[in-house]
Amino acid sequence: MRLDKFLANNNIGTRSQVKEYLKGGSVTVNGTICKKADTPINEDSDIICFRGNQIVYRKFIYIILNKPGDIVTATRDKKLPTVMDLIKPLPAKDLFPVGRLDRDTTGLLLICNDGELSHKLLSPKYHVDKTYLVGMERKPSMSELEALESGLDIGDDTKTLPAKAVLREDGMLLLTIHEGRYHQVKRMLEAVDNKVTSLKRISFGNLNLPDDLEEGKWRELTEDEIHEIVFSR
Ligand code: URA
Repeated sequence: MRLDKFLANNNIGTRSQVKEYLKGGSVTVNGTICKKADTPINEDSDIICFRGNQIVYRKFIYIILNKPGDIVTATRDKKLPTVMDLIKPLPAKDLFPVGRLDRDTTGLLLICNDGELSHKLLSPKYHVDKTYLVGMERKPSMSELEALESGLDIGDDTKTLPAKAVLREDGMLLLTIHEGRYHQVKRMLEAVDNKVTSLKRISFGNLNLPDDLEEGKWRELTEDEIHEIVFSR
């Protein structure tokens, strides 16, 4: 990889900023100042420092965000703030959200730069579980809970796959689905003549939304969490 690309990928700056940093002698490769942007480097073995701090190369970055409402799940939007605006400083340039939560949906969103994992997590083939905490306009009946569980016509070619619907004592519904159709939870509730009043995703595959991760906050996944999510696929 070229040195300027390595620096830009690690979000040291834009390509042109990186060139300036290089010219100014801010970057060393294996202890020697390097000013040439196109210097080939081996990101696994060379020691590259910016202003004296080593840049530790990680191929993939995995972030868990507790998405607030009123934020768009996208990498950019012409008018509205996006989930990426919350990740500051961005640890890598090529991050993207894995799947989509509606603008008013809150909770667990995975953000990473691992295209293969993202593909697997979103593929209908792998049936990754997603659990939502759902507030509703009215308490569903037993038969409506059974209908949510057994599969519903929500206007698509096929019915929804079997799901798990547990009504909590506080009147909130815990709904676990294995697909990720457009507005799926809202449409499932509509199909049983109800309406979603609040929606929060609390788990995605093996990953649970940590209790101590406040809305709008994010952190990188721990090694154990990465292992769970990457190697359980
Ligand atoms: N189902 C929905 O209806 N909306 C979401 O954001 C996620 C699942």
